[in-house]
Amino acid sequence: MYRSKITSPRFLVTLPLPDPGMEILHRTGDVTVLEEPPVYEELVGLCASCEFDVLVSQLSDRLDARLLERAYIKGISNYAVGFNNIDVPAATAGDILVANTPGILTDATADLAVLLMLGTARRVVEGDQLTRSGSFTGWKPDLLLGTDISGRILGLAGFGRIGRAVAQRAAGFNMRILYCRRPPSQTAEETSADIGELADKVEAVGWDEVVETSDFLSLHVPLVPETHHLINAETLRRMKDSAILINTARGAVVDEAALVAALRASEIAAAGLDVYEAEPELHHGLSVLSNTLLLPHVGSATASVRSEMARVCAENAAAIGRGDLPPHPVNPEAWERAAG
Ligand code: DGY
Repeated sequence: MYRSKITSPRFLVTLPLPDPGMEILHRTGDVTVLEEPPVYEELVGLCASCEFDVLVSQLSDRLDARLLERAYIKGISNYAVGFNNIDVPAATAGDILVANTPGILTDATADLAVLLMLGTARRVVEGDQLTRSGSFTGWKPDLLLGTDISGRILGLAGFGRIGRAVAQRAAGFNMRILYCRRPPSQTAEETSADIGELADKVEAVGWDEVVETSDFLSLHVPLVPETHHLINAETLRRMKDSAILINTARGAVVDEAALVAALRASEIAAAGLDVYEAEPELHHGLSVLSNTLLLPHVGSATASVRSEMARVCAENAAAIGRGDLPPHPVNPEAWERAAG
C-alpha cells in the first residue's frame, strides 16, 4: 500500500510548523492546517474521514488505539523526538507508519537541564522575584544562600544522547557523575557501555546508588511502562534531603503528587521541572512552592532547533505521503509489512 506512489499527498497538520516545514509540505502536496489544536473527538473524526494521507501531529495530540483503529491514514509524522502520545503497537497493527525527529534537540535539552540545575541550586526564581519586587535592600552575607555545583554528585537516570550531553557539560563543572542506563532494573554491570571519551568522566552504577547518593538527580529516560513513576514517594524518601530533582524528560516519569508532598516535607531540597504529569496542568500546590523552578516544556525551544525539527518532520511526512520509507521511522515494520 505504501509503495503505491501518490503524486499529491494530502497532509493534515494539527498546528503550523515553523519554516521550512510548511513550505516543504506545500511543495509536496495538499495541506490542511487546523486553526486551533484539535480536541480528541475532532481528531478521531478527521483521521477517519478518508480525506488525509498523513497526519502531522504534535505531542499534545493523543493518538491512542481507539483513534488509530478508526483512522484511514498512511502515516503520522510527529513533530518531536518523543512519541509517547502515540500508541505505536496500535499504529503498526493498522499498517500506519510513525516517524519522529531524533538527534536534533540533544544539546538544547541538555543545556536546559543544566540551567535547571544551576537555577535551583542558586535560587534564581526567588532572587528574581526579590529583585523585581523592590525587596532587594542591599548585599547581605546570608542573602539567598544556595548550593554548590562543583564537586557535587550528579546522578543520571538514562544515558542516551541527552544524558550523555548533560554528562559532558557537568564534567566541565567538575561534578562526579554517576549514571544508570536503564533504571530501575539495570545493575551497575549491565549499565556500563562503550561511551567513548566520557569513559573516564562517568561511573556506571545501579539505580539504588543513583537514588541514594546523588546531590542532583536528572532524568533522561523515555516514558515507557517501566519508567512511569520511576520517581515516586519511596524513591523520594530515599533521596538525600539536600538533593535536587531535575526533569526534562517526560512528566509522568515522576509521581507529581508525591513530589509535591516530598518538597513540602523537605524530603528533598528542590526540583527543576520542564515537563508535567498532566501537561499543561500542574499538580495542585506545585506552583506555590518556592523551592521549584518551573518551565513550560521548552527543552527544544531554540529557533534553530525548532526549525530543523520542522524540516525533518516535513521530510518524514513527505516521504510517507509519496509512499516511501521516511528518514526517521519509529515502526519501519509497518511499511515493510504493507509493502511486502
Ligand atoms: C520532544 O521532541 O520529544 C520534546 O519533548 C519536545 O520538543
